[in-house]
Amino acid sequence: MRHGLRRIETNGSERLHDTQLIATIAVGFVLAFVFGYLASRLKLPPLVGYLVAGIFAGPFTPGLQADVQLAGQLAEIGVILLMFGVGLHFSIQDLMAVRCVAIPGAIGQILLATLLGMGLAHLFGWSLGGGIVFGLSLSVASTVVLLKALEESNLLDTPKGRVAVGWLIVEDLAMVLALVLLPAFSGLLGGAEEVAGHAAAGASEASLVWTLAVTLGKVAAFVALAILIGPRVVPWLLAEVARTGSRELFTLSVLAIALGIAFGSAKVFGVSFALGAFFAGVVLSESHFSHRAARDSLPLQDAFSVLFFVSVGMLFDPTIILRQPLEVLATLAIVMLGKGVIALGIVLVLGYPVGLGLGVAASLAQIGEFSFILAGLGLSLGLLPDEGHDLILAAAILSITLNPLAFQAANALRTLVREKGSPRLLAHGQAGFAALDAELAANRRRNEEKGAARALELKSLLDTFPVLAPVGEDEQEELLLLFQPRRATPGTRVIRRGDRADGMYFIAAGRVEVEVPGGNVDLSAGAFFGEMALLTGSRRTADVTATDYCEFLMLERRDFSLFMSRHPQVRAAVKAMAAERLERNRRSAEGGETELDPAEASAAT
Ligand code: CMP
Repeated sequence: MRHGLRRIETNGSERLHDTQLIATIAVGFVLAFVFGYLASRLKLPPLVGYLVAGIFAGPFTPGLQADVQLAGQLAEIGVILLMFGVGLHFSIQDLMAVRCVAIPGAIGQILLATLLGMGLAHLFGWSLGGGIVFGLSLSVASTVVLLKALEESNLLDTPKGRVAVGWLIVEDLAMVLALVLLPAFSGLLGGAEEVAGHAAAGASEASLVWTLAVTLGKVAAFVALAILIGPRVVPWLLAEVARTGSRELFTLSVLAIALGIAFGSAKVFGVSFALGAFFAGVVLSESHFSHRAARDSLPLQDAFSVLFFVSVGMLFDPTIILRQPLEVLATLAIVMLGKGVIALGIVLVLGYPVGLGLGVAASLAQIGEFSFILAGLGLSLGLLPDEGHDLILAAAILSITLNPLAFQAANALRTLVREKGSPRLLAHGQAGFAALDAELAANRRRNEEKGAARALELKSLLDTFPVLAPVGEDEQEELLLLFQPRRATPGTRVIRRGDRADGMYFIAAGRVEVEVPGGNVDLSAGAFFGEMALLTGSRRTADVTATDYCEFLMLERRDFSLFMSRHPQVRAAVKAMAAERLERNRRSAEGGETELDPAEASAAT
């Protein structure tokens, strides 16, 4: 990548070099904060401030200079966490629902926008290869910008947002292919024949087919693994971690899953970090912990996605606007107008309404990280002229800054169509949209129902066992994990006197009989037993037998100590009950009290 080549040497001193990473993070955060705040005071979107911060910290302006390459890597972490966050709110069903518009839409748009870019490159007098790289760079939208924009306008959970994200995923997959195929085809396209690090350059036709097949195979294997194996393993892993009750371990596991899958899948399957992270999120979205995972990763996600904008700003040489104003304008026009019109046209042709088309068009009317990667590759392969790289950067920074305007324009146009549009235009695509909307709504409902069922389960658990009431709201989910369901038929000996303790039982339904001196005690739903041996570390003090069809929730021995140490109030209540029972047993054994309190069950709670 170009910015990799332009590494900035801040100061010859070795020591300074050692703290380069800290310096980059610190300068990035401080400047982004200052300019972001200023931007928001000026009623501009904060991201404009972040970009300006980047320009300040970059090599093209005097004064502070941070490490461009490091900033780029930090930005990548932002992309990973952001895509992971989106995946968390996306289900595989959602992806399936939008495929009919996202797949043909994204492919069609890439093709047409690439053609536009090639046309412009032809006017500039560049080679065919240069045109292809330039066109491809202009055809893909930035994940970060798109997601931030959707988030800001509350569109992420709407059909528009779903379609735009689906579209982005297809673009992302297409870019994986483009990044692999470009080096392979570079020889044919007039690029450098032998380029270090790109062994496939100038390869034969057979090996091109082979490269293509291997790439497609790897992507397919990745998606299959993510969809088939992921949902079985990842939620299980998270549940196991949640059982430990350590908040720190939980957050760590979320980050490990996001970054680990993103990095691992990029290494093993050759997909982008962003795609790997997205699927990590999708896989996790099946877990009950997806909300907690989203909440835990949000602060880091915010911080690092700010660094994304700073790093884009750093790459930008503002003088290009003065040196080649017309070229910059033409490139920007393709990104903002050309791509927008293409997206709108495709959505209409596919049979969806103008409103959806305008929304998607505005979301995609910008370029970002993928374009830099493609342009960097094109440059190193000798396909794209230096000027092309600079134009792409200029178009990126301008289109990102102006993106909010694109949304405003789309809104204005939608209002115009609603007020002045012909009935035919207004009716266009409504049926298709209604079907899509219904499918997405059904997915949402299914998810909500799952959540509601869980909440109900939790509520009935707390209603049945008031002893658990002191458990804080955040830890209640953990109850459902720790409490193992157990059943017993009448006559089953659940606990045998003198045995070692395996766990403590909460009676959810049914009735048991405890054999104690002076008469048996009945315990029913809401009561618990088996706590004494666990608390004292000795053997079971009595036989407990089911006298009805019983359902228990059992807290296993290892979970018991952990749970009680985290919830001292519950522990105190259980301990008090154990002491009371012990005392009563002792008195009965001494022949003092014969009649046992029949309301034991309620006392127990
Ligand atoms: P534990 O000793 O682990 O196993 C037998 C259980 O019977 C004991 O814990 C108590 O939970 C329960 N138990 C013992 N005595 C009484 C009692 N008097 N009333 C109710 N339950 C009791």
